[in-house]
Amino acid sequence: MIILGIETSCDETAAAVVEDVGDAARPWVIRSSVVASQADIHREWGGVVPELASRQHIRDICGVVEGALSGAGVAPADLGAIAVTQGPGLVGSLLVGVSFAKSLAATWGVPLVPVHHLAGHIESLFLHHGPLPLPAMVLVVSGGHTSLFDVRAPGAYRAVGRTRDDAAGEAYDKVAKLVGLGYPGGPVIDRLAKAGNDCAIPLPVARMTHPDRNAPLQKGQWDFSFSGLKTAVLRHVKAKGAGWTPSPGEVADLCASFQRSVVEALVEKTFAAATWHGATSVGIAGGVSANSRLRADAAAFGRRAGIPVYVPPLALATDNAAMIAAAGLRRYYAGVRADSRLNADAALRLE
Ligand code: KG4
Ligand code: ZN
Repeated sequence: MIILGIETSCDETAAAVVEDVGDAARPWVIRSSVVASQADIHREWGGVVPELASRQHIRDICGVVEGALSGAGVAPADLGAIAVTQGPGLVGSLLVGVSFAKSLAATWGVPLVPVHHLAGHIESLFLHHGPLPLPAMVLVVSGGHTSLFDVRAPGAYRAVGRTRDDAAGEAYDKVAKLVGLGYPGGPVIDRLAKAGNDCAIPLPVARMTHPDRNAPLQKGQWDFSFSGLKTAVLRHVKAKGAGWTPSPGEVADLCASFQRSVVEALVEKTFAAATWHGATSVGIAGGVSANSRLRADAAAFGRRAGIPVYVPPLALATDNAAMIAAAGLRRYYAGVRADSRLNADAALRLE
């Protein structure tokens, strides 16, 4: 079974071909994966401009899909299905992928499978590692989302926590903008933080956990919050006064201190939720899972707790279509099909 995946939810136009080879240890193999990033276009504006994103998807989608098919050496007749991100995301961007996938499915007579973007991020772990030990606690952490999912069976995702305000990646991007480091902020803060002192600037770590560890489970116990941290960084910068130009050392200290707060909150909450829910593995997916400190701290925490930790390779961490193809395979086997009435849904829920 060969599936074509298409992803256009934000600022990456992506297409990939994934084959189910039936090997129990690692059933899904990436035959090709093409990503056209629009980061250079949006960098100038300090963040994603929705209208520019939709227009660029229209320009790129034909070439990206052709590239994925030719890279995999497959013809339309070889495809068993087409999977497309239905939501959540920017509605104009989503519409490009959904309309294109519907047209291909109708023209080639191939079944169409709608996919939730976060299911794609979760399935990036199964795509790369094969079946994870279940139940698994999976943190999806990206520019648009910071959510915890309890995965008890393949393809069954139950949201147990989410951010109440900013996503962690959004906080990285906003802080980078504040300090003049450009867009996207995650990779550059990650790099600069390596040279900094992570205790140089006292910043809050939002825990939102009951101080009594034996207290009964509170509503929202596994939620995150990053807007207070962003405000604390803003206050720190403002306190320095108008014409403040930080030295490279000061920038590094700020990056390291900010990153420590974000990573501590993510790792502590994820493992607390994993333990409480009896998870036998932890997964971390989404763009921020590319972060070097998050990877290192989660691995160390996992070793101490005796819980294996799974992260995707960098190419599968940020938005891509191979993960959408993988989630599409899962849904295809579950019998999910869409017809020509399929519409993009900017606020699509997973459950
Ligand atoms: O998953 P993704 O490509 O798109 C969304 O679905 O949002 O994630 C993009 C986010 C951006 O906010 C970016 O700054 C962040 O992932 N990111 C990182 C790193 N690489 C990308 N954040 C922290 N450290 C990184 N190394
Ligand atoms: Zn994403």
